[in-house]
Amino acid sequence: MKTITLWNEGWRFAKCPDGPADPAAVLAGEAVTLPHTWYADGDYYQGDAAYQKSFSLTLAPGQRAFARFNAVDKVCEIYLNGKHIGGHKGGYTRFALELTDALRPGENLLTVLVNNDAGETVSPLMGDFASFGGIYRDAELVIAGPVHFDLQYHGSEGVLFRTALRPDGAGTVTCEAHICGGPGQVHYTLADAEGHVVARGDESLTLAKPHLWNGEADPYLYTAAATLTVDGETVDTVSLPVGFRSISVDPDRGFFLNGQHLKLRGVAKHQDTAGVFCAAGPKHWEQDIGLIREMGANAVRLSHYPHPQPVYDLCDERGLVVWAEIPMLKLNETRELLDNAKQQLTEMILQNLHHPSVCFWGIQNEVGLMGAKPYMPGKLRILNDLAHALDPSRPTTSSNCSAVPIDSDLNRITDVTCYNIYYGWYYGDMPDHAAFLDDFHAAHPAMPLGISEYGVDTNTAYHSDAPKVNDYTEEYQALYHETVYPYMAQRDFVWGSFVWNMFDFVSPIRRAANIQFRNLKGLVTHDRLTRKDSFYYYKAIWSQEPFVQIAEKRFEKRAAGTMTVKVYSNQPRVTLTAGGRTWTENTANGIARFAGVPLDMGDNTVTAAAGDLTDKAVFTRVDQPEESYVYVDNGPGLHVRDWFVDADEEARMFPNDAYSLRNTIGELLACPAAMKAIDTIIPKLSKPMRTGPDTYTLEKAIPYLYPDCPEELAKALNSELNKIPK
Ligand code: GCU
Repeated sequence: MKTITLWNEGWRFAKCPDGPADPAAVLAGEAVTLPHTWYADGDYYQGDAAYQKSFSLTLAPGQRAFARFNAVDKVCEIYLNGKHIGGHKGGYTRFALELTDALRPGENLLTVLVNNDAGETVSPLMGDFASFGGIYRDAELVIAGPVHFDLQYHGSEGVLFRTALRPDGAGTVTCEAHICGGPGQVHYTLADAEGHVVARGDESLTLAKPHLWNGEADPYLYTAAATLTVDGETVDTVSLPVGFRSISVDPDRGFFLNGQHLKLRGVAKHQDTAGVFCAAGPKHWEQDIGLIREMGANAVRLSHYPHPQPVYDLCDERGLVVWAEIPMLKLNETRELLDNAKQQLTEMILQNLHHPSVCFWGIQNEVGLMGAKPYMPGKLRILNDLAHALDPSRPTTSSNCSAVPIDSDLNRITDVTCYNIYYGWYYGDMPDHAAFLDDFHAAHPAMPLGISEYGVDTNTAYHSDAPKVNDYTEEYQALYHETVYPYMAQRDFVWGSFVWNMFDFVSPIRRAANIQFRNLKGLVTHDRLTRKDSFYYYKAIWSQEPFVQIAEKRFEKRAAGTMTVKVYSNQPRVTLTAGGRTWTENTANGIARFAGVPLDMGDNTVTAAAGDLTDKAVFTRVDQPEESYVYVDNGPGLHVRDWFVDADEEARMFPNDAYSLRNTIGELLACPAAMKAIDTIIPKLSKPMRTGPDTYTLEKAIPYLYPDCPEELAKALNSELNKIPK
């Protein structure tokens, strides 16, 4: 029988800035326990590193040993006793390598050489998140008998279970076993949630009346198991959760689960969490999925790459509809990149196709950020066809951005398509959502449209009673979500929407709002300790769990004599008590608003009640507006903050009467002196600037056009541009 042992203890680790370590030599490194990442805020090391583990292992005759890694970020080559035993390209999927032939009696030395450079051949090539680096998910030692299910089959368990519903309502499981080491007999069983075997078979399983997996309403799961026998003796088993459900997407009416319409109320999430970053574990995953369910979301976009297996398991169990995707965020012309994308897509699909929660395979995110190139559609069609060939049962999807026009071919590749839209943040105004959605639907009446991202950054330290774009206040984020979500909710043809993002996440290129290295668009902070006000907005309109929550609690100090108290609740009416007076208001769009509530100097306790539910807040009347609530932004009018600039230098670096990195690419292209400076100081920018969209500022575009651009060079270019008067 196969044994699987966690192999997380007893590793040594070292960064290798001078190039890969000698895999045959003992590594002089620090002792670490997996999961491990070398990322630290402010120390985004991208390069070579090594892990090493010494171990002894004696195999019985015929036994085979494998090292299985649930993810190594991003590229690795693995050696046993100095002998190369294989490698893996891609930081988010599982793979197993055989140790058997290189094992020796006594002590063995396993060396994993890892590299997380951006590079040009292994996705992701860039992104607004970190390629953290490390063996950051569990490692396992697997000992198998001579005949076993092939755990090297694209990192799967060696057995694939494909569930389907027949027109007569019967559930089928088509089973596909990949056996190594010789012939064997495979027998399959299906057990219900109580563990009773309800179907048996040698190739497939049929259940006349399956209990359906029905999302959050009833996430019912079965367990499919495969048993491999040789001469009547069991030599291997694999069991995986499965579920029966049907899905479809209609361009006018949206998403259907088991024939019932289900508006997908989604959020997106990255895998990192404060302190441990990507090396998160079960308690973090439980917490994240728990928060998503608490808010009442019924769908999650697990972006921008495959997430750990247990996260998909949790989504199965909690009834979340999942969008899974590969890390395809920049598509160049190389054959190697496409081959690698095919490999990562194959691994993602074959490792995850048993999960009933997974309903969409995403093949790209914003590859057209700098303009759709003529070679892109062909390459994406190859990925799309591959996804269909591996799994005809699920729709493919993709995310385009504002740089991709509505009539672009990039909107005609996948079964459904989506846009990441940021009206009211990076560009445009909040009401622009309506026209965009309607225009797209009119132009593509047969293409189901979803919104794969929308959101704004906020630092919960900042507050305003007149919130506006770019002030980073908690109140602007709340106003934005309260305003824009209804545009999507009211249109049946929008099959789903995904808030960007459920949690603040690490982005080494970001410096916004006085919090470094974070994208702050989360509804919950990176440490998961603070639910921002917007979280309660969605809870009020999505969750069935009765609650009442006074908004703006962190905006405690008030300089005016009255205030509008905003209360989020999913109850029809809310009563507010303050200073001995009582008011009652109906809720609309999850909000009850109480205008003109008087405040006395000092502390004022305000209580909101709906039935038995109550919430309390204290607002303190002060003489002067609280200065610390205001984010001092010296670049007025800009919708996006810089990616490297110290706040104090801003006024000097971005004068109104001279050119700077804050000019759009179009403005710079139109100014010969500016282009001369660019060609001289950062010639690498010149070509992509001329071939991509011209509406972004160069400051916003540099991380995408030239991700490794040294900060000094960018600053030098900015100073040179400053010498050119407008
Ligand atoms: C993009 C992108 C995300 C990014 C987001 C943002 O559209 O897909 O990865 O984090 O926008 O700017 O916050």
